[in-house]
Amino acid sequence: MQIGVLTGGGDCAGLNAALRAVVRMAGHELDRNVVGYRRGWNGVLEGDTVTLDAEAMRGVLPRGGTMLGTSRSSRRLETEGPTPLIAQLERDGVEALVTIGGDGTLITAGRLADAGFPVVAVPKTIDNDVCGTDICIGFDTALGVATEAVDRLHTTAESHNRIMVLEVMGRDAGHIAAGAGIAGGAAAVLVPEVPFNIDEIAERLIARHDRDRNASIVVVAEGAIPDSSVETPDTGSDEWGNRVLDGMGQFVGDLLAERTGFDTRTTVLGYIQRGGPPTPADRLLGSRLGARAVEVLMEGQSGCLVGVHSTGIAHPPLDEVAGRTRYLSADQLELLDYISTAPVLTRHSPSRRWF
Ligand code: F6P
Repeated sequence: MQIGVLTGGGDCAGLNAALRAVVRMAGHELDRNVVGYRRGWNGVLEGDTVTLDAEAMRGVLPRGGTMLGTSRSSRRLETEGPTPLIAQLERDGVEALVTIGGDGTLITAGRLADAGFPVVAVPKTIDNDVCGTDICIGFDTALGVATEAVDRLHTTAESHNRIMVLEVMGRDAGHIAAGAGIAGGAAAVLVPEVPFNIDEIAERLIARHDRDRNASIVVVAEGAIPDSSVETPDTGSDEWGNRVLDGMGQFVGDLLAERTGFDTRTTVLGYIQRGGPPTPADRLLGSRLGARAVEVLMEGQSGCLVGVHSTGIAHPPLDEVAGRTRYLSADQLELLDYISTAPVLTRHSPSRRWF
């Protein structure tokens, strides 16, 4: 089976780990190189390919961004559907495709699968809002950056007795804002899921400072919206009809300064959240999902998403857990075998008593 791979949508950290895992797994299981498409679906439409073998993937794990480049959707995809994509994939000898992307990429991948072309999708987006997985590639890195920003804002805010508003990414869902707000101890977190009431927040901040607090951090997701008590600023729409997100942090900062009378500053974290080296968790997630995507294709499945499930909190009885060790799972040991340069553990492990 000849596998192709692409990265679509906004970039994030951890994409290269996923690409590397796809290439290594395909090399390990199929003894084949992988056809990489540059610039997402646009690269498929134009037959813009690069051969990905183990050598090409050397040194990519710690690198942010995507070595293939990426792009948002194109008009041609919208109007012509999957037909030109399938025609080009066939011309390139590609028999199955791994797509690494967010919702836009998933929609096109689904159309391809519906048209009969084998596709498996891997979820990525710092916004962490793809359905079908508990976590997306790129989120952990962005969360780390946003949390560090909250920590840094705390110390300067305390020195000046200020309100610090931090705008983070999160168009439709507030995972970064909520995560960084909880981890960093923000006084308020505004997320797209719940319209905020600016007067309530201002009152809360005044009450905090009346209780001798000398700093308040307010984390605002870029897609947060006020309730009907204030007018949402009209920032227009892009060519796809999506609301342009521009300046919600500053808007909130200005309203809070006016209502509280406190010295208030706003920081927009922006693309710093998307760039830079991936955290170990994102490298691991990319490696796991990339490798599994190839396996799923080899199992003859198509039109599905490989995702992580069950990261919720449970409370098992102590007599089920005390005195026992949680070893690496069979899946993790298998992954080590595919991902490592030297064969490890799984095949010749002296002790497999935990299986
Ligand atoms: O990838 C998701 C995201 O980071 C959103 O949070 C943000 O609104 C958007 O991408 C920005 O995308 P672009 O690269 O098109 O400016």
